Amino acid sequence: MAEISLPDGSYYLGFDSSTQSLKATVLDSNLNIVLSELIRFDSDLPHYKTKDGVYRDPSVNGRIVSPTLMWVEALDLMLQKLAKSELDLSKIAAVSGSAQQHGSVYWKTGSSQILSSLDPKKSLLDQLQNGFSSKESPIWMDSSTTSECRKIEEACGGAMELSQVTGSRAYERFTGPQIKKISNTQPDVYNNTERISLVSSFMASLLIGAYAAIDHSDGAGMNLMDIKQKNWSKLALGATAPNLESKLGELAPAYAVAGNIASYFVERYHFNKHCLVINWSGDNPNSVAGLTLNVPGDLGISLGTSDTVFMITKDPNPGLEGHVFPSPVDPEGYMVMLVYQNGSLTREDVRNRFAEKSWDTFNKFLQQTPPLNGGKLGFYYKESEILPPLPVGFHRYVLENFTGETLDGLTEHEVQEFNAPSEVRAIIEGQFLSMRAHAERFGMPSPPQRIIATGGASANHSILSSMASIFGCDVYTVERPDSASLGAALRAAHGFVCSEKGSFIPISNLYMHKLEQTSLSCKLSVKSGDEELVSKYALFMKKRIEIENRLVQKLGRV
Ligand code: ADP
Ligand code: XUL
Repeated sequence: MAEISLPDGSYYLGFDSSTQSLKATVLDSNLNIVLSELIRFDSDLPHYKTKDGVYRDPSVNGRIVSPTLMWVEALDLMLQKLAKSELDLSKIAAVSGSAQQHGSVYWKTGSSQILSSLDPKKSLLDQLQNGFSSKESPIWMDSSTTSECRKIEEACGGAMELSQVTGSRAYERFTGPQIKKISNTQPDVYNNTERISLVSSFMASLLIGAYAAIDHSDGAGMNLMDIKQKNWSKLALGATAPNLESKLGELAPAYAVAGNIASYFVERYHFNKHCLVINWSGDNPNSVAGLTLNVPGDLGISLGTSDTVFMITKDPNPGLEGHVFPSPVDPEGYMVMLVYQNGSLTREDVRNRFAEKSWDTFNKFLQQTPPLNGGKLGFYYKESEILPPLPVGFHRYVLENFTGETLDGLTEHEVQEFNAPSEVRAIIEGQFLSMRAHAERFGMPSPPQRIIATGGASANHSILSSMASIFGCDVYTVERPDSASLGAALRAAHGFVCSEKGSFIPISNLYMHKLEQTSLSCKLSVKSGDEELVSKYALFMKKRIEIENRLVQKLGRV
């Protein structure tokens, strides 16, 4: 494999516009991190009055949106921070980005004009005040489109048929069902929209001063793209909304150049006019890049606002559970993924209720309680859950006399509460048991070769220890828990070399020969647990899935 070097002294900038924050990571030409910055939406931009970066609409069940202009202002603020840093922005050879998946932005008719003539004396916020036909963007946490999902599936010949074309059955948070809802309930907004961007292509559009294409990886999170052909599916478009194709624009590979950075940024922040903007993509695809996930047996687990589990494959088989997206760094490859809505925010809720609002106490409780938690199984849905599709609610069961040897003759009963330490263990074990069960169904080797963990909660060693015991494999982490912005910076470098060479270059050519000396190398964090315990957890997992299926039958969204 030919090694590729990046020009000496050049830098690569990656952003991550996530649910709660905008992050930036800068890599040097040896792929080492030289700068990271963070803007938290709730605390750094308090005038938007978001909680966790979002608005939960009290009047419409499951409606969750974010103010589009908050993302614009966050970019203004981040650029000011970068301009004040030691970094010479004129040395940045390429920029790319990561964004929460599925969220959508509605550009008002005429806005391409504003974008292409940005005045460097004014902020982006000032100039884009009237740029959107809807001031609020539906985001991935929204679960208000169940009826639109069923209609789209029906019009496409069924859930399985839709999944085989687009990589997923219809999901409430996916952009197609969200667009269908807007076109039906707010026809003025829909008709007054000239372009619909994903959060990823929206941010790229700001940087190039023109509408950027939606990339193939994030595009697969819409229920609108044919994942094999990598074009819009006419069937899915027709099932979603009228005249949709013209509002979506082109699709493009994630490693392709979106354009040169707009003169606005050259004049206002002294970027180099040759600086390339590489297409942005979703946060999970960017994490695949940032974790350098390139072995099919490796499992990525991200513990961010959402929890996700992903693997790479050459041979995907989309079904009724999980998602298939084209890889952002390999035109022949795909990633398969499971997504949980109740990730870090729900762990925080349990920490606040039962562990004195402290991660230290939370960890102490986790260490104090025995594996298998005396047969206590908890289901914690602070937000309506994606996997399984259950509404808000906490459910707790005790499996009497469970030792992990057998399930024969054991009965479980429902309880209102556990003691505080057991609540902590139940939320952690419950999530990893669910991940293991669904990932095994999804084709994960059991045990996986190894897990590479990322996201905010991957900084917590006690949580990673439970993960290793339940999955029965070693757990690795990368230098910093924000693999999405790191992946975006790496993809910026990748897009840059593909553009220089005039053809696709495997991303591993950039780092394979020097993986140990870069910021990208994974380090062993926790060794796998004992094998006997792994098989005891297998029985516990079987019980959990039995109860989960019953809950879905009784309460699940249909
Ligand atoms: P996102 O990128 O989705 O906005 P992050 O990956 O930045 O989210 O993760 C943020 C979350 O990380 C917070 O909501 C917080 O609950 C969680 N977190 C941070 N530190 C810890 C810790 N020590 N233990 C558990 N969770 C943590
Ligand atoms: C993925 C998903 C979430 C968001 C969170 O399908 O909905 O992981 O990308 O940022």
